[in-house]
Formats: sequence, structure tokens, C-alpha cells
Amino acid sequence: MARLLVYYAHPGQKFSRVNALMADRARRTEGLTFVDLYADYPRHRIDVDAEQARLAEAEVILFQFPLFWYSTPSIVKEWQDLVLEHGWAYGHGGTALAGKRMMLAVSCAGPEDAYSTGGYQHFPLRTFLAPLEQTARLCRMSFPAPYVLYGALKAAARGEVAPHVEGYATLLSAIRDDRYDWPAAEERQTVHHDSLPLIRAEAGA
Ligand SMILES: Cc1cc2nc3c(=O)[nH]c(=O)nc-3n(C[C@H](O)[C@H](O)[C@H](O)COP(=O)(O)O)c2cc1C
Repeated sequence: MARLLVYYAHPGQKFSRVNALMADRARRTEGLTFVDLYADYPRHRIDVDAEQARLAEAEVILFQFPLFWYSTPSIVKEWQDLVLEHGWAYGHGGTALAGKRMMLAVSCAGPEDAYSTGGYQHFPLRTFLAPLEQTARLCRMSFPAPYVLYGALKAAARGEVAPHVEGYATLLSAIRDDRYDWPAAEERQTVHHDSLPLIRAEAGA
């Protein structure tokens, strides 16, 4: 079993069509730690000691959020600024996170073809996620491909919400049960509900 810590960040739960359903599944999945950042810290006063203790225990740290202005909802930035302390997470003596994995589960309104050099968002999604990727690497964590839902606002009409939510639940259990093929995930840019061949039937097989 891998020790999995899921951080969920969505400031507008009642408007959520995708992430609230995903969070609900994560919350009900046994054998992982689920943290709803906006619920736990409505005033953004993050308990640094508590979060560092959670991180120290975890092997895989997964942030689940909707893309807001090409970045995370603001509480994730606050979490980073406070929790990832010099001498703890990075820098001299900062090895608390070394060898762990940091992964993202992201939804965004833009369609996949918009997130390309020729598309209207001008850059691939991974370019916008580069600060998170390099944060992970500076803290000596690996950064496997994010689990992504593009075109999230039209996903319901396309019948994609349920498969995406189901894929997320499958992904979480596979990570927890050591059935996720991390080297393959490192090779990918993004993974989707219909492209999770990364999951092995048996743990460690
Ligand atoms: C403040 C705000 C900023 C957003 N910024 C982006 C963005 O930069 N790129 C994008 O593709 N979608 C953006 N969106 C759309 C959200 O990512 C989308 O509504 C969300 O992923 C849908 O998930 P949900 O149904 O769980 O809320 C933004 C939405 C809001 C409210």
C-alpha cells in the first residue's frame, strides 16, 4: 500500500460540476488521507506543523483542483508559500519530501486543442503547470503526468463527467494499491480517463 495524501482545493463547491463529484469519491476512498483545503482553512490560516506532519507521512501527494487563471486556486499558493519551508522542503537540510511523488488532478474549461502552441491558449497545459512541476523537483519529488479533464464546462453534454470521476476513483485506488506504473506516467504529458493503461492488474507486477 502506498500512503496517499489528497489535497482538494475548490472555493466554489456549489458551482462545481466535476471536482465536487471527484472529491466526494476521494473522500469515500478507504486507505488514503483526504484534505479539503477550503473547508479546513476558510480563513487561509494554514496550520504549517499539521500539514508538514501529513506530508512527512505521505509517499504520494496529489493536488486536485480546477485551473484558475492558468494556475491553482489561491489557497494552494498560500499552502506552498507557508508549508514548503526552506531547510525543511528544500535548501540546506531540506530533505523532508525527498523521494516522494507529487501529482495533480486538474480540470479546465479550455479544450485540449486550445492548449497547444497553435491554439488559443498558446501553450500546452504542462507549460502552465511548470511552476508546480519545478516546485516538486526542487523539493526532490518526482512529477508524474497530471490527470486532466479538458473542456470541463461541456463535459456533461459530452457524457464525460461520469467516466472522468470513475477514472479518478480508479486512479486513486491504483496508486494506493501500488498498481500505478509510475515510470510510464513520468513519460506522459497528461493522462485521461480513457488513457489509464498505466494500471497493472496486480500490485508490483
Ligand atoms: C476564476 C476562474 C478562473 C478560471 N481560469 C481558467 C483558466 O485559466 N483556464 C481554463 O481552461 N479554465 C479556467 N476556468 C474554468 C475552470 O477551470 C472550470 O470552470 C473548472 O475546471 C470546472 O470544474 P468544476 O465544475 O469542478 O468547477 C476558470 C474558472 C474560474 C471560476
